[in-house]
Amino acid sequence: MSEVRATDGVLADRFGRVATDLRVSLTDRCNLRCTYCMPAEGLAWLPREELLSDAEIVRLVRIAVERLGVTDVRFTGGEPLIRPGVVDIIGACAEMRPRPRMSVTTNGIGLERMAGALKTAGLDRVNVSLDTLDPERFKTLTRRDRHAAVIAGLEAAAAAGLVPVKVNSVLMRGVNDDEAPELVRFALAHGYELRFIEQMPLDAQHSWDRSKMVTADEILASLRASYTLLPDPVERGGAPAETWVVDGYTATDGGPARVGVIGSVTRPFCGDCDRTRLTADGQIRNCLFATDESDLRGALRGGATDEEIARRWQAAMWAKRAGHGIDNPTFLQPARPMSAIGG
Ligand code: GTP
Ligand code: 5AD
Ligand code: SF4
Repeated sequence: MSEVRATDGVLADRFGRVATDLRVSLTDRCNLRCTYCMPAEGLAWLPREELLSDAEIVRLVRIAVERLGVTDVRFTGGEPLIRPGVVDIIGACAEMRPRPRMSVTTNGIGLERMAGALKTAGLDRVNVSLDTLDPERFKTLTRRDRHAAVIAGLEAAAAAGLVPVKVNSVLMRGVNDDEAPELVRFALAHGYELRFIEQMPLDAQHSWDRSKMVTADEILASLRASYTLLPDPVERGGAPAETWVVDGYTATDGGPARVGVIGSVTRPFCGDCDRTRLTADGQIRNCLFATDESDLRGALRGGATDEEIARRWQAAMWAKRAGHGIDNPTFLQPARPMSAIGG
């Protein structure tokens, strides 16, 4: 087989990877203030004039889908559901051919109200962040008293058919790492696919400390103490999550369900990465941890053609590094925090 080149109508890089999964950040703002993500007072949000308009986002997604081989589009934030145009953007993307698979990664607030409209617009599924089942802990962790809204949002998503509903939990030592089996029990009971995530150095406060991180090995040991983890018959592909199948103990416990661990730090999956990212202000990032970006907003607003934009996007991806290098002594945390990158 010949090597994939930057000019082949796909988003290839020098290491033979091809990006088919586009993550679009719809806003850098959020209605929660998770302690591992941003300070209580929030961040200096992007100025309005720098944000892409709904039409500009749709145009860029169209270029990715029609000219660059993107098959999957994920809308993220900040919190994507607070963008007023989110349903219309999804509706416009659903008209594209080949129609991309579409998903949203959300904190779940607003889903109770919006799940039906999102489904009707063409959204396929959602991932919802939920780090604790205890409303008081939730309040401490997110600095907002919205636990019930997230639980209701999850239920509304499942009821609307936005499935599989995946739940993301970041485990933190001494904060919620005692909850892993309880979270599995909750996921089994509701038919959600739960994934535990290793905390990454992407917080706005730059307070990440590797020695405090709950590792994939620790998470798995804690799960194995309560559940049998069976191999998942479905192939992993480029997915960040390593997955297993777990079952409840009795018929009323629910299950079987898939449970995953996203070990970005101790079990990096960069070699199989199939992602490209668009920030809310129109920058292409070829990696979550990239330290530079390529400006598509300037090109768009300067009158570039679709073909010129596609070429710029390809050049940005061709420069992708082999891996995130968190373990290298020279590792530099990206200037933008997670909430402004889109996870
Ligand atoms: P699906 O399994 O397809 O639903 O997607 P996902 O798990 O990649 O998406 P989600 O937005 O739910 O992200 C879950 C976690 O994976 C978050 O902590 C993301 O930051 C992380 N993640 C997503 N993409 C990447 C990536 O390219 N590299 C790394 N290291 N982590 C990623
Ligand atoms: N490391 C790992 N996951 C994170 N998330 C937010 N910040 C971090 C971090 N520093 C999670 C959120 C959400 C998903 C998009 O990423 O909890 O579930
Ligand atoms: Fe908002 Fe997500 Fe950051 Fe929490 S992790 S503050 S939900 S962007």
